Amino acid sequence: MSFDLITCSSQLKMFKFNFDVEDDTEHYSTAVNHTTQNQGHASVEAAVVPDVFTELFLADALNSLPSKISYSPVTIPLANGGELSLPRRDLFDARFQLISQNVDDPDALEQPSVNARSALHFLDTPSDLVPLVYEGGLKTWECSLDLVSYLDGIKSQFDFSGKRVLEIGCGTSIPSLYILHRIFSSPPSQNQTHIHLQDYNASVLELVTIPNIILTWYLSEAAETYRKSEERADSPLELNISESLKDAFHQSLVTYGVDLRFFSGSWDTFDLQKSCGSYNLVLTSETIYRMESLPSLTALMRGACNAEVSQAVDDYLCLVAAKVLYFGVGGGVTEFVRCVRDLYKGGTVETVWEKTQGVERRVMSVRWN
Ligand SMILES: C[S@@+](CC[C@H](N)C(=O)[O-])C[C@H]1O[C@@H](n2cnc3c(N)ncnc32)[C@H](O)[C@@H]1O
Repeated sequence: MSFDLITCSSQLKMFKFNFDVEDDTEHYSTAVNHTTQNQGHASVEAAVVPDVFTELFLADALNSLPSKISYSPVTIPLANGGELSLPRRDLFDARFQLISQNVDDPDALEQPSVNARSALHFLDTPSDLVPLVYEGGLKTWECSLDLVSYLDGIKSQFDFSGKRVLEIGCGTSIPSLYILHRIFSSPPSQNQTHIHLQDYNASVLELVTIPNIILTWYLSEAAETYRKSEERADSPLELNISESLKDAFHQSLVTYGVDLRFFSGSWDTFDLQKSCGSYNLVLTSETIYRMESLPSLTALMRGACNAEVSQAVDDYLCLVAAKVLYFGVGGGVTEFVRCVRDLYKGGTVETVWEKTQGVERRVMSVRWN
């Protein structure tokens, strides 16, 4: 278990974590191949301008999906000793989507856009992080499962329905999928629940976050009527993305009072005015690995909990799941706690869950001053 810093050029550094939710490592090479890396580097170097806050619309993302997607279950151990399975789109399927889009567009085939090329590169090496180019959102990191386990343990005290939820650095969005799974498996509520998801890369939101949400809905009780009526895909782990599926999904969002919004871009450009206020539940997992990013991350987290914007919330829960130490980059729990205390005098961080054997991991609850 280690974390290496690989210098690709004097300006561009590539980080590589060597730990992950195990199944990804079976499908994708994690070996450092300098040839591939340099090709990736060439394709991403032109794009080293931090991406700014941009909203991605659900309907557009759904319309860009192919007619069929494939997925695999992720098994999450729960605090009560049980397990929960949530669906996650296969990365090879996302890769196929990108390649097909380029084939359909002759200009793109001749000169694929920097974004498409970068996304293809990182789909092949999803644990390679290039600061402010690709930040690891294509794959599922293990602390996101810890966060689900913790959320499941507090579900009787904290009702997710009717809340405003922000997942920062969501990637495959396993914690938000858990909340949606609960909402779609309960009777419809009159309360409007807002679930907002942020990732650095728009392509991550498009290729994995949104497909995972559709899959979670599809396998829930909310989609039971639709499942009985549809023409099934050939394989049990494939889903037909038809117009009737999109209509049924939109109808469920209305029936269950779920508002979904998606934002890409760097944390320091996140616009809380545009996302309409502050949140009751702020979640983030495996985002405190780089010291330079901690000021912008903590500023966003704090602002999201009690921003002085349109709809300040009465109270909030702010949870951070992380490894205690990210070897080689200096980030980790100690630096995070120091940042909260130094930048926001009176801010406190309490460990609410921890694993002390092997690679140490924690879930922390933050109170801002
Ligand atoms: C290692 S991934 C973790 C993904 C997911 N939370 C998980 O645990 O599986 C780190 C995430 O943080 C986000 N991120 C990292 N640095 C960022 C920055 N400076 N601005 C915006 N997002 C950033 C990326 O979107 C990326 O998905």
